[in-house]
Amino acid sequence: MSESISQGKAETATIVLPNGKSCQLPVLSSNRGVPVIDIRQLGRNGYYTHDPGFKSTSSCQSDITYIDGVKGKLYYRGHSIESLANQPFESIIHLLLLGSLPSDQQKAGFTKQLKLQADLPAQLLKTFKQLDPNIHPMDKLQIGLHLLKPNSGLKLDTHEQRLQVAFDIIAKMPLLAALCHNPSAPTNLDTYAERFLGSLLGSNAINSVRQSAFDCILMLHADHEQNASTSTVRMVASTGACPYSACAAGIAALSGPKHGGANEACLKMLNTIGSTSNIPDYIDRVKDHQDPALLMGFGHRVYKNYDPRAAVMKSLCHQVMKQASDPLLEIGQQLEAAALEDDYFIQRKLFPNVDYYSGLTLSAMGIPTQLFTVIFALARTTGWLAHWLELHQDPDAVISRPRQRYMGK
Ligand code: SDX
Repeated sequence: MSESISQGKAETATIVLPNGKSCQLPVLSSNRGVPVIDIRQLGRNGYYTHDPGFKSTSSCQSDITYIDGVKGKLYYRGHSIESLANQPFESIIHLLLLGSLPSDQQKAGFTKQLKLQADLPAQLLKTFKQLDPNIHPMDKLQIGLHLLKPNSGLKLDTHEQRLQVAFDIIAKMPLLAALCHNPSAPTNLDTYAERFLGSLLGSNAINSVRQSAFDCILMLHADHEQNASTSTVRMVASTGACPYSACAAGIAALSGPKHGGANEACLKMLNTIGSTSNIPDYIDRVKDHQDPALLMGFGHRVYKNYDPRAAVMKSLCHQVMKQASDPLLEIGQQLEAAALEDDYFIQRKLFPNVDYYSGLTLSAMGIPTQLFTVIFALARTTGWLAHWLELHQDPDAVISRPRQRYMGK
């Protein structure tokens, strides 16, 4: 049993253990969101906490991203995502890694610097040409991260050195991501969005609607506090592994259909449903716990309200669809409406998440389905590396090593 006691400024929670001992645990305030109980001394008193899936556990201190899951709000370094919707991705990189939006002059210099560092090593290009084309692009991206690591001379001792390595990885991601689909045409154009779209679709396919939609998609995916892939990156990095390996592990974690892989899975689901007349049957399936089917792109550990990224993505989807009509959008919208008025979803507070409309949007932009999660990773690498930098500056950071409740022989 635990209670929170206010003692002047320092709050504590007292927990009385079954062995009769009581522990006074510091309650640490948060600038925004719920306070946390610091349980670090509990283990010395003969008990661990048990929290599969970390549903009630804060793993670190961070000042990069804040989610208000009840109100459905998301902020990067204090800026709401809605206020960032028209920024080029270069500004978002600057914001997440350096803490502030760049001035126009800084933005121009930073954009130029990222372009200068964008080209991929010749050996990596050669290796990619030899890869089996049937390897999933997310697996190729992981391979690419390992191949980017310099064989010698990697310096990670100071914050400045780590920042330079982070910029270098981020700068190379658009061409690497495009290479996962098309190993022969990396095109180093001026901006982050152009480099990826130009390499993938050809420079003639770039127009201002596509480019700003793509910048916005990247912004929406850039960071999301301690999600599964970011926590994986932090855990791998806590061992002292280099950022290339940590990001490769992040890519692996992101690929799962319950995480970033949901955008690809969502589009497949809409295709499987095939017609609006099949929506009631599909809704029945996802409500039946004996059936493994889920409503992909719905539900979230933190949001108990509409994911604000899904709202921006939905309007973006309508904008890009003006140029191409798609019956899947109709299925998607009717499926969303049916779920939002169904008791099963209402009671569990299940709403569309970022992945619900992103597949439709990317598809309307001419992007192949297998690249959807690669694009998520392209954006999230910036978030991962912001967390990697933060971890290295955190005096409390130690190797991540949870305990267990042993039930074997
Ligand atoms: C991302 O964490 C992040 O921040 C991630 C992310 C990011 O930017 O990094 O936002 C990106 O990963 C978005 C989520 C993408 N995944 C999906 O769209 C897959 C479908 N959604 C789920 O599998 C699920 O909602 C999760 C994984 C997203 C969240 O899982 P939780 O928090 O562990 O919740 P849960 O699985 O325990 O669900 C609670 C209840 C259960 O029912 P009961 O046992 O209470 O009866 O809700 C049901 C679940 O069965 N439920 C769903 C459902 N999601 C939850 N039922 C049908 N369809 C769904 N999508």
